[in-house]
Amino acid sequence: MNILIKDILAILPGEPDAEVKRTDVYVTDTEIAAIGTEPEGFVPDKTIDGDGRLLIPGLINAHTHSYMAFMRNVADDLSFMDWLFGRVDPIEQRMTDEDAYWGAGLAILEMMKSGTTCFNDMQMNIMQTTRAVKESGMRAVISRGLVGSGNDEAGRSRLEQAYAERDAFKDCDRISFRLGPHAPYTCDEAFLRIVAEEAKKNNIGIHMHLSESKTEIENCRRDYGCSPIELAERTGLFELPFIAAHCVQIDDKDMDILAKHNVSVVTNPASNMKLGNGFAPVPEMMAKGINVCLGTDGAASNNSLNLIHEMSLLTLIHKGIHLSPQCVSAQEAFKMATINGAKALSLDKVCGTIEAGKKADLVIMNLKRPSMWPNNNPVAALSYSANGTETDTVIINGQITMEGGRVLTMDEERIYYETEKIMDRIGK
Ligand code: NI
Repeated sequence: MNILIKDILAILPGEPDAEVKRTDVYVTDTEIAAIGTEPEGFVPDKTIDGDGRLLIPGLINAHTHSYMAFMRNVADDLSFMDWLFGRVDPIEQRMTDEDAYWGAGLAILEMMKSGTTCFNDMQMNIMQTTRAVKESGMRAVISRGLVGSGNDEAGRSRLEQAYAERDAFKDCDRISFRLGPHAPYTCDEAFLRIVAEEAKKNNIGIHMHLSESKTEIENCRRDYGCSPIELAERTGLFELPFIAAHCVQIDDKDMDILAKHNVSVVTNPASNMKLGNGFAPVPEMMAKGINVCLGTDGAASNNSLNLIHEMSLLTLIHKGIHLSPQCVSAQEAFKMATINGAKALSLDKVCGTIEAGKKADLVIMNLKRPSMWPNNNPVAALSYSANGTETDTVIINGQITMEGGRVLTMDEERIYYETEKIMDRIGK
């Protein structure tokens, strides 16, 4: 389908700052065909009027666990161990495959309605997430969660399952795949070495939780005599495209290792604060040239999957901690929520900016909202005054998945109904 987005204020790529400009955007089939100049022979099947609207590249949530969406607000104000083993784990034990599908559906609904068009998911039941992603029109990187010790049978069989799952959705070009060794405290060194070897053999990137809490660092030093970052380096995992979630409790030496291996870091400010883990050294990582992107983590620890809300936290907390209003600007937050996430997921040629030749992953926001008006600085608005509900229309891979606030590719009421039923059954 050819779509013309006519005379719209758009946030286009620029260096060092993104450029805000009124223009026309031409979409042909799955791609952005041109910006500003009409391509030869272009006949629009649909024209979207840009009046009173803002066009942004679809946001990229670089770390989440989508199936957990129905666990929103069930495990709050608890220590990490009580959170995990007292509340989340027992619910997970009672979960069925079908539950994971509806959980992922709820997560996708929330993300789409707040301007996210691509997410990086870590979980065990990826077939159901994949089904939800395929149907909803979203773009996703699905990371197969792995836990194991040495060459144990369970770890091996999870790896085997992972390949079967990857092969099952080869036909959908909106979905790519990574291996997700969960964390240094659920995968031992020998198992991590096996995962690294397997990933190299199969040319697959890695998505892993690293250096989230003080306890994790202490235990890693006790068990291996080094930090989680050093452990990941010596197992060979950093020789692969690597996206590290959290990196909260890291030092200068860790940051140098991350920079040396071009490891991308996903910061998840809400989850890190809510679980009492602290603040990732984002400005320090940026100063070392590390690619930092933004994630929400799962709805059991955030409890929202709204990246606009996360941008606000990201910019504000670092200004507060560093006593510096210049720290993590709105422009920097915008890049972290878009192109930096695309780079981290090896999708920077596909999405992350509004550019001709890239896939059409576009979000149209309503400017005629008190939170967006007057329209003095749209980039600042995203971090400092928007709340995500301004999202009006969403296009992913050239498909209109949401229009005028209504999601077209999913049955919203059914998702509410099913996820409520799930919690009635397994949540109490
Ligand atoms: Ni996580």
